[in-house]
Amino acid sequence: MIIGIGSDHAGFDLKEEMKKFMEENGYEVRDFGTNNKESVDYPDFGRSVGEAVAAGEIDKGVVICGTGIGISISANKVKGVRAALCGDVFSARMSREHNDANVIAMGGRVLGVDLAKEILLTYLKSEFQGGRHERRVNKIAEIEG
Ligand code: RB5
Repeated sequence: MIIGIGSDHAGFDLKEEMKKFMEENGYEVRDFGTNNKESVDYPDFGRSVGEAVAAGEIDKGVVICGTGIGISISANKVKGVRAALCGDVFSARMSREHNDANVIAMGGRVLGVDLAKEILLTYLKSEFQGGRHERRVNKIAEIEG
């Protein structure tokens, strides 16, 4: 499974930690930047990761900015992306089981590294349940047109 990861400057430190953590857990990781803490614009990175997911170049995406809000909004503008901003383990599991989220967003200025690791691993290991949830996810796609 190939996981894409991207962040702005405020998410850079957590991105580096999550990248290493995923590699240690056997995931292939593609890094979409940013590559240092110089100020950049989060929509650029939410967009690149989102477009790669939508194109099927990567299986899932991880996007990180200061709060996770701006970069999740940006990724969600890409057709086919369902980005879930998660700050707890239950939401991370539900984002897969109920929403089939193909991108997870986290806040680098919000979460500690250990909690972020638990959230991320839960997200990566949880599976979409389908059934009634599929109908609802299809309705999200209908909104996109
Ligand atoms: C950057 O200062 C900050 O605004 C950004 O990382 C993010 O939190 C926006 O939603």
